[in-house]
Amino acid sequence: MVRGRFITFEGIDGAGKTTHLAWFRQRLDDKIAATGRSVVITREPGGTTLGESLRDLLLNQPMDLETEALLMFAARREHLAQIIEPALARGDWVLSDRFSDATFAYQGGGRGLPRDKLEALERWVQGGFQPDLTVLFDVPTDVASERRGAVRSPDKFESESDSFFSRTRAEYLRRAAESPERFVIIDATQTITNIQKQLEAVIASI
Ligand code: TMP
Repeated sequence: MVRGRFITFEGIDGAGKTTHLAWFRQRLDDKIAATGRSVVITREPGGTTLGESLRDLLLNQPMDLETEALLMFAARREHLAQIIEPALARGDWVLSDRFSDATFAYQGGGRGLPRDKLEALERWVQGGFQPDLTVLFDVPTDVASERRGAVRSPDKFESESDSFFSRTRAEYLRRAAESPERFVIIDATQTITNIQKQLEAVIASI
């Protein structure tokens, strides 16, 4: 049995990644349908019953920074065990709206949790497991902030400052530079049509 592939979408809040998710999933489904495989679409924090309960706490409750990082990784462990690993083992592909790059970017870059702590948690929860491909939707923080302005009731992260998001963005770009073979960076200031053209090329290449 050939293992499936694991693809993640990342970017700061307001980068527009979620707009492209359903479309990308459909194109991916079209690509692999003939092989009898399907695409499992999921998200973090969340993706499981426990993970969605943790998401509600993480997005709405104030908490200590280390608690926040630990809960992100606890939700991830459950997600891996219940959804991601079984799907890949049966040959399906998994498309996740965020994964551990988000913890490095938000809790590490944004909030300033030391990287060695996050690396220790990443080793514990994932071993050496990483996505096969990560699509990073990159936008300057002022563009993202303008887009977030349209959100009526922002959650704990969406209410953060521009300086928080510029640190978060910088950490995403650092992670991408560290693993260039895994990342595709999309300039998310472009039109939806242009972004879709780039995503078509990504799909053709995997
Ligand atoms: P979403 O709005 O893209 O669904 O993501 C939920 C929020 O959670 C988003 O603001 C980013 C944040 N987040 C973290 O801070 N750390 C993480 O590890 C993950 C997965 C998400």
